[in-house]
Amino acid sequence: MQRLALILGASLLATGPLAADDAQPGAARPPLGLPAVPVPADNPQTPEKIALGDKLFHDKRFSSTGDVSCSTCHERSKAFTDSPLPRSQGINKATGTRNAPTVANAAYFATQFWDGRSADLEDQAQHPFVNPIEMGLPDHEPILAIVRADPEYVNAFRQVFGKSGQGVTLREVQLAIAAFERTLVFGDSPFDRWYYGGDPAAMTPAAVRGFTVFLEQGRCVSCHAIEGDHALFTDNRFHNIGVGINAIQKDVPRLAGEFLKAKARGMDVDQAVLSDRKSSELGRFAITETLDSIGAFKTSTLRNIGVTAPYMHDGSIATLRDVVVHYNNGGVTREGDPVNDFLSGGIRPLNLSDQQIDDLVAFMESLTSPEFAALQAALSTAAR
Ligand code: HEC
Ligand code: HEC
Repeated sequence: MQRLALILGASLLATGPLAADDAQPGAARPPLGLPAVPVPADNPQTPEKIALGDKLFHDKRFSSTGDVSCSTCHERSKAFTDSPLPRSQGINKATGTRNAPTVANAAYFATQFWDGRSADLEDQAQHPFVNPIEMGLPDHEPILAIVRADPEYVNAFRQVFGKSGQGVTLREVQLAIAAFERTLVFGDSPFDRWYYGGDPAAMTPAAVRGFTVFLEQGRCVSCHAIEGDHALFTDNRFHNIGVGINAIQKDVPRLAGEFLKAKARGMDVDQAVLSDRKSSELGRFAITETLDSIGAFKTSTLRNIGVTAPYMHDGSIATLRDVVVHYNNGGVTREGDPVNDFLSGGIRPLNLSDQQIDDLVAFMESLTSPEFAALQAALSTAAR
């Protein structure tokens, strides 16, 4: 009976009908516009594991104050972000340096975090628990104490992993959370129905015009990639597009040098970039230690971007229109501000007209999946 309930629960989470020819048990057919979800060989999807990951993702007991869970900053009703916060708030409202990216479709990213410092969802899941400005635990022991003793968890870990007592480790917690996150895939937007589904009425004329700007004069597609049969809207690479870097521009040589010294001495990079504003702005450099990655961040997906304001790694740009203006200015948010020394080659002034800017915004608003369409409607009513 319990097993049946779990299976039913998981199939409600899945976004499409189960594919008959699918070798992965529990894996759902991806929605229109998205490829099959990559699943690591050592962490197969099962309905029971997904249900366990869902529970772990929402459990506030895994924070030092007992009131922060993963879902505090990645809430389903906010398209798995904490919009409209510019920067996330953890325990005791501690505010970090970065904007919470959506976990929707994170299953497809080649790396996790704005600077790609985690290789996959499994690795990523261990960090927030022990980050002092997120969930604030001193170490992972309090989590293990709960999952080894709470009867529901004891049952679930035994059922899913065949483990109990000291046999349950943080690794199983990470595996289950990642399996849950791999079900958070959202496509089937008006753009998908228009471009991949062949429905000419699915997008508005403004959005169709905006798509042309996206491909041509705006050159957005060179980083926010679209393929023949799917679109992730990211090249999974890192670029400096001129956000946040101006705050440290003059100080870069000293800051970069000090950061590397501290890192060599064993500084925790995850904690440093989330709690120190200047370290955060070094971007991908914190991981690669190469000059060409100073101020570079991962290209964001643009799926559901209409409902996840504000924007960029630091939440510094309030609206989609302001984002386009930033690009139109050649990588500076306020026209006339200096262009930073590390700007990526692809970023230069675009000479877009007001009409083209509006059309590009309309195009991005057509990337909202049906699950978040009501949220988008509510936001645009509020804006009027
Ligand atoms: C206090 C708010 C907060 C909490 C709690 C939190 N996150 Fe996050 N999450 C963030 C922020 C901010 C980032 C971006 C940090 C960075 O890139 O340096 C992030 C990034 C991520 C990413 C990377 C997405 C991408 O596009 O690269 C994933 C996945 C994720 N979080 C999952 C989780 C999981 C799982 C938990 C619970 C174990 C969790 N988060 C808890 C705020 C939070
Ligand atoms: C050179 C590669 C590149 C090009 C070209 C580019 N982008 Fe981006 N885009 C990025 C990167 C990298 C980020 C994240 C930057 C950051 O947070 O500092 C980003 C972020 C964004 C965001 C905010 C995402 C979020 O989750 O907050 C939007 C919206 C966006 N881009 C739209 C566009 C549009 C529209 C165009 C064309 C006018 C464009 N981009 C061109 C690389 C690019």
